[in-house]
Amino acid sequence: MSARIDIPLAALAGKPVIFPVNLDAPARSRASFYIETFGCQMNAHDSEKVAGLLLARGYRQVESPDAADMVFFNTCSIREKAAQKVFTRLNDFRGQRGQGKVVGVLGCVAQQEGEAIFERAPWVRMVCGSASYRNLPALLEEIESGETRVSGLNLDTDETFETEVTRRDNPVRAYLTIIEGCDYACSYCVVPHTRGPERSRASASVLNEVAHLVAGGFTEVQLLGQTVNSYRDPSPAGLNFAQLLAAVAAIPGIRRVRFTTSHPNDFTREIVEIIESTPALCDHIHLPVQSGSTRVLKEMRRTYTREEYVERISWIRAGRRPFSITTDVIVGFPGETGSEFEETLSLLDEVKFDGVFAFKYSPRPNTTAKDMPGAIPEDVKSARLAILQQRQREIQIAQNQKLLGAGFEILVDGRHESRGQWSGRTTCNRIVNFTSQAENLLGQYCQVKITGAGPNSLVGEHVA
Ligand code: SAH
Ligand code: SF4
Ligand code: F3S
Repeated sequence: MSARIDIPLAALAGKPVIFPVNLDAPARSRASFYIETFGCQMNAHDSEKVAGLLLARGYRQVESPDAADMVFFNTCSIREKAAQKVFTRLNDFRGQRGQGKVVGVLGCVAQQEGEAIFERAPWVRMVCGSASYRNLPALLEEIESGETRVSGLNLDTDETFETEVTRRDNPVRAYLTIIEGCDYACSYCVVPHTRGPERSRASASVLNEVAHLVAGGFTEVQLLGQTVNSYRDPSPAGLNFAQLLAAVAAIPGIRRVRFTTSHPNDFTREIVEIIESTPALCDHIHLPVQSGSTRVLKEMRRTYTREEYVERISWIRAGRRPFSITTDVIVGFPGETGSEFEETLSLLDEVKFDGVFAFKYSPRPNTTAKDMPGAIPEDVKSARLAILQQRQREIQIAQNQKLLGAGFEILVDGRHESRGQWSGRTTCNRIVNFTSQAENLLGQYCQVKITGAGPNSLVGEHVA
C-alpha cells in the first residue's frame, strides 16, 4: 500500500514535519525506535534522515528510550567531552534498563571507535557510521534474524546518503545536505576520519528536494556541509557553489536560503556577489577562522593566513547588504603563546563578529596535532577561553545596541509561553523575542521593531 502524506505547515504548530513521501511500509507493525543526537547540524539532519528511513520501513518512532525496542545514539567525536558523553549515556543502558533493547551507536564515535565499542560496551549490538546509513535497514534485519552484533563502517565511498523520506524535526527551517565528508586535513580535526572523503550531491537532486520542501510548506532551507562552499556538482550541469545557491533561491516559494559551514579557502567573491543580487539568500555568513595567528593557522593546516582571512571579510563588508558574520575559534592549540592568543583577540576587535563559537583545544585520536609538543595546560586554556568570551560579549552588546529602533522581518520559529513571547530569526540569523497580539505566528514572517538588545538576542514588538 502506498500513501501520500501532505501536511500544511499551519497545522503543524510545534510538531515534526513529515516530508511528502510515499510510504511503502510493510503491513505488519515493526519495532519502535528512539534516537538521541549529539553534535553538529549535519548529525541532527542525519538523524532526521535515519528516522525517515526507519519510519518508511514500518518502524515506529517514540520519544523516550524506555518505551523503545531500539535505542540509537547518533554521536559526536569532535572534542573529548562530546565523545565521553556518549559512553556515559551508553552506561545508562547496561543491565536492567538495556535489557531486551537493541542499543546502537551511530555517527562519528561509531566510525572512529568502530568495533572497539563492542569491547567497551558489550551490550551494544550495532555500530554504524554516517557513510553506511543506507544499509541501516539491512543491518536491523540481520539483528532481527538473530545476529548478535552488526556493523557498517565502510568509509571508502563516493556515495551520498539521500532519501526522500526524511522526517524533519524543525517545522520552519528545513536542513538538507549538499556535500558530505571533508577533504581538508586540519591537524586537530577528526571529521575527515569520521565522515570520509568529500562528495557532492548532484544539483538536480538538491533542487528536487528543495521543490518538495516548498510543496510541503517550507519557505526556509539551510544547505549543509562540513565545507559547504567547496560544493562541486558531479552531474554534467557542473554548478559551483555560488551557482547552486542561485538555483536554489530561484525555486518559486523559497524565501530564505542559508548555508553552513563555509571554509575560508573556498570562499569566493562570486558567493558575495550572488548573495548581493538575490534577496532570498540570507545575509549571514559563518566563516570559521580558528585563530588570529598565521603561525598557529599554519600548524592547524588551515591553508590561509590571517591576512587572507581578513581579505575575505573585506569582500563581505564591501557589499551593500548588512551581513552578519560569525566564526569558530579554538584556544590553547599546542604551542599557542600568550601573544598568539592576543592575536586572536585583536582579530575579534578588527572584524567585530556577530557571534563566536569558542572552544578549548581538545586532542583527538588519529589527528596529527595530538602528538604536537607544547600542550597548553587546562587552566591556561580555560583562562584564555574566559577572556575571549568576555571580549566577544562586549563586542556583541555594542553591535546589538546599534540595532535598537530598527525594523526586521522575522521568521517565527518558537514560542516562550512563560514570557508570552514569540521567537524567530532575522535574515542575518539574529534571534528576536517579541510580543504580539496575534494568535499563532509559528512559521509566519512578521515585521518587528527592536526595543531591547542583549549580547545574544534582541527583544522587539510586532508592528505588522
Ligand atoms: N568544517 C568546519 C568545522 C567543523 S567542526 C570548519 O572547517 O570550520 C566545528 C568546530 O569545532 C570547528 O570549527 C572548530 O572550531 C572546533 N573543533 C574541531 N576540532 C576541535 C578540537 N580537536 N578541539 C577543539 N575544537 C575543535
Ligand atoms: Fe575538520 Fe578542517 Fe574539515 Fe572543517 S575543514 S571538517 S575543521 S578537517
Ligand atoms: Fe561532531 Fe561528527 Fe559533526 S564529530 S561536529 S557530529 S561531523
